Amino acid sequence: MTGGPAGTVPANGGSARPGAGASAEDDALVIRPAARLRGTPMLPGDKSISHRALLLALLAQGESRIVGAGDGVDVRSTAGIVATLGAQVERVAAHGGRVDYRVVSPGGDALTEPDHALDCGNSGTTARLVAGLLAGRGLVAVLDGDASLRRRPMGRVTEPLTAMGATFAGRGDGTLLPLAITGKARLSPISYETPMPSAQVKSAVLLAALAADGGTSVTEAVATRDHTERMLRARGVAVLEETRPDGSHVARLTGPAVPLAIDDAVPADPSGAAFWLVAGAIHPDAELRLEGVSTNPTRRAIIDILRRMGADIEEHDRPAPGGADGEPLADLVVRSSRLRAVDLSPSDVAAAIDEIPILALAAAAATGTSRFRGAGELRHKESDRIAGIADGLAALGVRVRVEGDDIEIHGGARLVGAVTETHDDHRLAMTFAIAGLIAEGETIVRRPGSAAISYPGFFTQLEGVRA
Ligand code: S3P
Repeated sequence: MTGGPAGTVPANGGSARPGAGASAEDDALVIRPAARLRGTPMLPGDKSISHRALLLALLAQGESRIVGAGDGVDVRSTAGIVATLGAQVERVAAHGGRVDYRVVSPGGDALTEPDHALDCGNSGTTARLVAGLLAGRGLVAVLDGDASLRRRPMGRVTEPLTAMGATFAGRGDGTLLPLAITGKARLSPISYETPMPSAQVKSAVLLAALAADGGTSVTEAVATRDHTERMLRARGVAVLEETRPDGSHVARLTGPAVPLAIDDAVPADPSGAAFWLVAGAIHPDAELRLEGVSTNPTRRAIIDILRRMGADIEEHDRPAPGGADGEPLADLVVRSSRLRAVDLSPSDVAAAIDEIPILALAAAAATGTSRFRGAGELRHKESDRIAGIADGLAALGVRVRVEGDDIEIHGGARLVGAVTETHDDHRLAMTFAIAGLIAEGETIVRRPGSAAISYPGFFTQLEGVRA
């Protein structure tokens, strides 16, 4: 882990640590049911926006300030890499899962060639976005990560980046970390259609497109999170977007282009808020408030899907958008609800990709049988989340059936405390901890430490909402 509470972030170091942020082998947390849930849990800054704010600050010459970034292990991995590549990265202040950064960069044309592997830790976003950023810089670098990240597919970014002119070498024919990148200061533009909905792939290509001669376009079958597009625009780079009648989405950018250094503020992470939205909805005596959450249309599916299930969620829009990127913000209040089963289409699943584990718990607590269709991408996350959800919920007494890429969850049974395995996956750790608030008896969450990947202080907040 790089950086302390405040101070200068050291250059990101050397060898990959297996299971960064993970807990010791025999580590486990016991969660007992809560009589009531009340309060306003503190939320981390949005992880996706925090990664991008740091990387764009590296490409921009001069001083950028980032207020309220997420202070999870993943964002720290990106901060360490930004420091290694030549920026001065200062943690100005840290408070409740958030950190304010001051980044002073020589700019994207004056990066330092790293003399050791860049450690992306557990973070797929770091690995894929840094690959895109480095594709168009004239230097050689090696990207590495922990055991989980070394198993995750990188061909989805190396393929378009190779077509643009970068060179990759690595295991699995250049599709697995550790991965050596030889960048090229001038890339060729491409028109790319992503084979799966992925904001990481889209963002990698757009970051490379900054160094391409001419117009690059990325087309996706369904629109994924649009933070890169918004944040480039806020930094003076024209990104054109078009949503077609069939729902497909195109982002276009003409290079070469250089983002400007700006000051930005990061909204609260809707993917972190998701755990409390479900906790509040499924607990019989709950009222929780969540402040300053991004309700960006490409991130708010969790709110809309829970409402479809009958969740009582109030949404109070904040009058001014969060930060320079125009992210819409709201304060949310969730209360105990009677949930009904839901049928999620593949595009619902894509829109709520990070929230599927906690939505599976909502489905387990709802009446009726829920179906999540086309969830195959979950197999390529920090762990095989389809297997992890199915096994964890089954241990808690829920009937779950997996058929191909579809998950069927039979709701309504009383959850009974059991041992749950997190596979060092932060979203599984937090999902099973929330289950423990409503399950009968004790729920054991094995190896819970990965929660700090995206939500440092999560378990403290969990104890705090027990009224
Ligand atoms: C992210 C995109 C998604 C998401 C991840 C963050 C991003 O991944 O699951 O947690 O910040 O762009 P994919 O692009 O692989 O779907």
